[in-house]
Amino acid sequence: MLGKIQVADKIYWLGANDRRKSLFENLWPLPNGVAYNSYIIVDTKIALVDTVDFCSGKNYLDSIKEYIGSRSVDYLIINHMELDHSGEIRSILEAYPDVTIVGNGVTKRIFEGYFGSAKNFLDVSKGHELDLGHHQLSFTLTPWVHWPETMMTYDKTTGVLFSGDAFGSFGTLDGGIFDDEINFNFYEDEMCRYYSNIVGKYSSNVQKALEKIRNLNLDVRYICSTHGPVWRENPEKVINLYDKWSSYQADKGVVIVFASMYGNTEDVADYIGRKIAEQGIRNIRIFDVSKTHVSYLIRDIWKYQGVILGSCSYNMEMHPNMQHLCTELQNMGIKEKKLGLFGTYSWNGGGVKNLLKFAEASNWEQVSDAVELMGIPSAEDYKKCDKLAEAMSKILNE
Ligand code: FEO
Repeated sequence: MLGKIQVADKIYWLGANDRRKSLFENLWPLPNGVAYNSYIIVDTKIALVDTVDFCSGKNYLDSIKEYIGSRSVDYLIINHMELDHSGEIRSILEAYPDVTIVGNGVTKRIFEGYFGSAKNFLDVSKGHELDLGHHQLSFTLTPWVHWPETMMTYDKTTGVLFSGDAFGSFGTLDGGIFDDEINFNFYEDEMCRYYSNIVGKYSSNVQKALEKIRNLNLDVRYICSTHGPVWRENPEKVINLYDKWSSYQADKGVVIVFASMYGNTEDVADYIGRKIAEQGIRNIRIFDVSKTHVSYLIRDIWKYQGVILGSCSYNMEMHPNMQHLCTELQNMGIKEKKLGLFGTYSWNGGGVKNLLKFAEASNWEQVSDAVELMGIPSAEDYKKCDKLAEAMSKILNE
C-alpha cells in the first residue's frame, strides 16, 4: 500500500514491483526485479493506460478502486499487448464489462488471441483523438518498439507521454518512482540492459519512433514508460540515451569474452586485456562466457565500441556457450562493432574457424587477423596477441 502517487493533474501511477520472478520472458535474469507501470487518468471519463503482469497484480483492482471508488473504467488504452502489461486485462474486463479497449488494428488481432473479441473496441490508428473531459489524448503508432502493435499515447493537457516499453528499465522502483527520487547510476545500467536485451533488435524502428515524436513537436513534460522510473525532471535525458543506443553510438572501450575449458584461452584474454590497458583504453571488461549470463554480455557489447571474442575448440566447433553468445548477437543485429578474434585448438581446431563465420555474418570490422594457437600460448603466440591488442587500441584511440 503506497498511497496515491500523482504523476500530473488527475493522472496517477498504478504500478507493481515484481521481486519474485527470476527471469523476464523466462530468459533474462532479474536480480533487481522489474516494475510494471500502469497509469490511471481520473477525469470526466476514466482511462487506464496499460495494466500489469498477472502475478504481480493482486492489489491491482483494489488500487483502481482507491482512485475511482464505485465509478467505472471507461477506456483501457493498450500501448503494448505483451503479457507483462496485459496480464490484468481479464480482471478489468470482468470488473468493468462495458470498458472500451483502445488500440490499433494489430492490437485488436493480438488482443483477440489472448482474450477473445472485445465488446467495445476503439481503433485509433487513423489519428483519432480521445476527449476525456479535461484531458485530450492523441495516439502515435510506433510499431516494433517492441512488438508490432506498440503505440504511444500523449496527453496534450499535461504533456504526459505514455511510451509503452520505450524508455523502460529492469529493476524495481524501490521507494523512488520519479527520476528526481532515484540514483540514476543504478538505472542507467539496467535501462541499457533492458534496451539491448528487449528492444535493441528493433533499433531502426526506435529511430523511426523518435523521429515521429520529434516531428509532432510534442511538448513532452513527463515520460511514463511501462517499466522503470517515471521521467519528470529530465525526460530529455532518457530520449537522448535511446537515441544513442538505437543509433549504435558506443563508448570508447572493449569487451573481451572468452570460452576456456582449462584456462589457456582465459590466459590469452587477460594478456590481450593488459596490452590494451597499456595503450590507454580505460573501459575494458573481461568475461567468462560460461559464467556471466549472455544478458550482461549483450549489454556491455552494446555499450562499448570494441569486442574481442576468444574460444577454445569443442568437438571441432567453438565452445557451445560462445556459440550461444554469437547466435544471440546475430539475433539482436548489433551493428558497427570493431572485432578481434582469438582461439585455441587441441587437435584440429574449430574455435577460430567458427568465430570467423560469425565475423562474416555480423559484418563487424575485424581489426586484425584472428590469432589461433595450439595448447599453451608460446612467445610467438603472444606476439600475435600484441598485434591484435595494438590494432584494437589504435582504432579505439583514433
Ligand atoms: Fe514490457 Fe514488451 O513488454
